[in-house]
Amino acid sequence: MDLDKLQTVANVEVAGKRLLVRADLNVPTKDGEVSDTTRLQRLLLGLRDLSARGARIVVISHFGRPKGIPNPEMSLRPVAKKLGDLLGVPVRFVPDCVGAEAEAAVAALKPGEIAVLENLRFHPGEEKNDAEFAAELARCGDIFVNDAFSAAHRAHASTVGLTQLLPSYAGPLMIEEINALRSVLDKPVPPTAAVIGGAKVSTKITVLKHLLSRVDKLIIGGGMANTFLLSHQVVIGKSLAEPDYVDTAREIMTAAKERGCAVVLPIDAVIAREFRAGTAHAVVPTLAVPADAMILDVGPKSVAHMREVLAECRTLLWNGPLGAFEIPPFGEGTFALAREAAALTKSGRLVSVAGGGDTVAALNAAGVTDDFTYVSTAGGAFLEWLEGRELPGVDALVRAQA
Ligand code: 3PG
Ligand code: MG
Repeated sequence: MDLDKLQTVANVEVAGKRLLVRADLNVPTKDGEVSDTTRLQRLLLGLRDLSARGARIVVISHFGRPKGIPNPEMSLRPVAKKLGDLLGVPVRFVPDCVGAEAEAAVAALKPGEIAVLENLRFHPGEEKNDAEFAAELARCGDIFVNDAFSAAHRAHASTVGLTQLLPSYAGPLMIEEINALRSVLDKPVPPTAAVIGGAKVSTKITVLKHLLSRVDKLIIGGGMANTFLLSHQVVIGKSLAEPDYVDTAREIMTAAKERGCAVVLPIDAVIAREFRAGTAHAVVPTLAVPADAMILDVGPKSVAHMREVLAECRTLLWNGPLGAFEIPPFGEGTFALAREAAALTKSGRLVSVAGGGDTVAALNAAGVTDDFTYVSTAGGAFLEWLEGRELPGVDALVRAQA
């Protein structure tokens, strides 16, 4: 896949054209209201630009996992409303993404106007990348714009199928996300570091294996660090770990050594007897974890060491928290290291790119999201990119240009 072939919609004549814009409106909600607007905010500039250029904009997206069946709880209606509020212009909501009603609503759009069509996954053809469903969708557009990097790991009708039917381009957010990842993985300024945290080694084996030949320092935290400690015969008490992956952890350590990648593990830990906010806790060396305690965060000495490592580096990729950051005080390690990365970035020393699932929530909690060079809105897609996999949605766009 030659990413340089990716064509952006920036140079395309869009005035008066119906643009089917695949966005990722799969935002967190609480009691039927959008509870985090990050993904919507990132779409605004691009949508405003297309609108100003006179495009008739038809936004399509999935929302949740309704498995091919209409489900009012997963309607995009409240999300469309929120998008309109953020844009400051009315956004028309269309209660189906295909069929006569959708086609008529789209036909009625004036240049610059925006409509959001109902959840693509109410139709089984979406996730099956069904050719007929894709053809039905294509009837609502003259041009396809994929601006949903965070859904590009799915080979669905709206990410792959449409590229075979309409002239297809990458949207500005798609380009931004890919450029950020390329800046840290393809031609980074050395030395480079990756911070990889999160609960399990098992979900990140491929990420770790891919990164160890690309970065100089691999900083490991979170529950997965416990499995690495276990592989060194360290007693970790009742800590979360995956004993079945001890050999995998060992293999990763060996491979890292062969590649000259230094693996940084926690040297001390914040421990507690129970996993509860405000519970009694203590800091101990990782070599002195009591049998009835569990590790819930990296300790201050680990953070100090990790900060020194970061200070030597010029490029950083961050995925996953270093501790149970949702429960105070077990976010302190993650927050402290995140603040260091943010400060280094602000001073121009470090290029920092973060993303994937919990990572954004952790950086938001640390209050440093805006100080990183780039924070991705993608979860699974970000991780698959870190695994070195080609994302079908990106690949399809590249092929559409060939
Ligand atoms: C995400 O939230 O990661 C994307 O919107 C993809 O959603 P999915 O995992 O349901 O395909
Ligand atoms: Mg997901």
